[in-house]
Amino acid sequence: MKRFESILITGASSGIGTALAEIFAGRGVRLVLGGRSTERLAAIAQACRQRGAEVEATAVDVLDRAAVAEWITAADRRHPLDLVIANAGVSGGTLKGTETEDQARRIFAVNIDGVLNTVYPILPAMLERKSGQIGLMASLAAYRGFPGAPAYGASKAAVRVWGEALRGDLAPSGIGVSVIMPGFIKTAMTGANNFPMPFLMPAERAAAIVRRGLEANRARIAFPWQTAFVAWLLGALSPRIVDPLLMRLPKKD
Ligand SMILES: NC(=O)c1ccc[n+]([C@@H]2O[C@H](COP(=O)([O-])OP(=O)(O)OC[C@H]3O[C@@H](n4cnc5c(N)ncnc54)[C@H](OP(=O)(O)O)[C@@H]3O)[C@@H](O)[C@H]2O)c1
Repeated sequence: MKRFESILITGASSGIGTALAEIFAGRGVRLVLGGRSTERLAAIAQACRQRGAEVEATAVDVLDRAAVAEWITAADRRHPLDLVIANAGVSGGTLKGTETEDQARRIFAVNIDGVLNTVYPILPAMLERKSGQIGLMASLAAYRGFPGAPAYGASKAAVRVWGEALRGDLAPSGIGVSVIMPGFIKTAMTGANNFPMPFLMPAERAAAIVRRGLEANRARIAFPWQTAFVAWLLGALSPRIVDPLLMRLPKKD
């Protein structure tokens, strides 16, 4: 089992990112937290300090490639990072019809470019040290395209497949890559959903599962298992069977 002492998390200002920051926070741990909301980041940084961690909180937009690279390389120079979690992400609501072009482009940009902007700057240092762990936030939506959220599912599928392949490329260099695939987690993102969300899980519980998965360098951290199984099955079955079912599901607000 790995023990992480210097951890960077994007999207730490809310939801799963906040819960991850809090669960890793403790004596002897350095946290480097990013998000856009300075106010929320400051409050979360304070909560993590109270748990004994040293915390740097920085307002940074994951779409700003140069700023993210500078943020990550500077943090790594001060204290070599042993875990980087590319967690920041957005979803979109459609109510009826499908995502607008603007929504789709925004979702692809944040969820894919934001992940690449976070991972590439740390790779040279991790390769040189021949150690490190990377956590990539995908989703169970990565198993199958769901009407109502085409860009969201597609962006997460890209992260999932990219991460699986990267894992194989980086393993010989001593770097672990875990693809994180949660089901419905209670956060601001799912707060807008006005439909039943099976096995909805508190963010704190999700963070505990993710932490264990990262410490064990699991390839895929997919949970809860019931939703994971159904999502996987929907992806494996023929669209002739699945499409009529999915088209009846309610869409996100
Ligand atoms: N909730 C679920 O059911 C669920 C399930 C599977 C996967 N996920 C994934 O888990 C991740 C976290 O989602 P969440 O549910 O915790 O949602 P959330 O509460 O809305 O948090 C999203 C986080 O991403 C940050 N973010 C968004 N755009 C950003 C940008 N351009 N630059 C920097 N940070 C940005 C937000 O920071 P600011 O608000 O400060 O900008 C916030 O901290 C996402 O990748 C999401 O797709 C969520």
